[in-house]
Amino acid sequence: MNQDELKKQVAEAALDYVEAGTVIGVGTGSTANHFIDGLARVKGRIEGTVASSNASAERLRGHGIPVLDLNAVDEISVYIDGADETTRHLHLIKGGGGALTREKIVAAASRRFVCICDQSKLVDRLGAFPLPIEVIPMARSLVARELVKRGGRPVLREGFVTDNGNEILDIHGLDIMDPVALEDELNNLPGVVTVGIFAIRPADILLLGTPNGVETLS
Ligand code: A5P
Repeated sequence: MNQDELKKQVAEAALDYVEAGTVIGVGTGSTANHFIDGLARVKGRIEGTVASSNASAERLRGHGIPVLDLNAVDEISVYIDGADETTRHLHLIKGGGGALTREKIVAAASRRFVCICDQSKLVDRLGAFPLPIEVIPMARSLVARELVKRGGRPVLREGFVTDNGNEILDIHGLDIMDPVALEDELNNLPGVVTVGIFAIRPADILLLGTPNGVETLS
């Protein structure tokens, strides 16, 4: 099985977590896209979705799946999304696709967060994947200097503007020993909108696509 087939396999497995008659949170990226395509087959069973990006909202609508405004929704039963890295503690790095802010909002609004990854995303320690940080444009250099002080090498994602009109710094070279503490610390830097560490609110369930089938971690 190639990587895309593993992503599709794990996305299909996530359909078992879709609760009938509820609103589903839907993530962003190639694995989430497979989930959206599978969700189209069972769309009559759900009330609707909240999307974590304009791209996912467009794909959902393309399948005729209702996309709701989070402000009009009381509860999201489950959030299904991929990740760029995950540990066995279900701490994640997200934001490779630049949608980290809305992803963190939808994850926070959801009763359960099911993360779907192919096995290449599983790591012992976060940080080999450059950590995305969404910043208010005027604070880009200020935040970058703070990250250099912490041993990181910030690189501006050239020509990229988030769905919220902000910029992304990708921080290379961080060895993230304590994801919860670093997320908390970086959250407090003025100008930071969202840090791509998802550890304060980790995933609840990790579905990992392997050539031997889908492994479930929680
Ligand atoms: C989007 O901003 C990210 O958080 C994605 O969840 C992540 O990049 C996973 O992408 P793939 O499913 O394409 O690997």
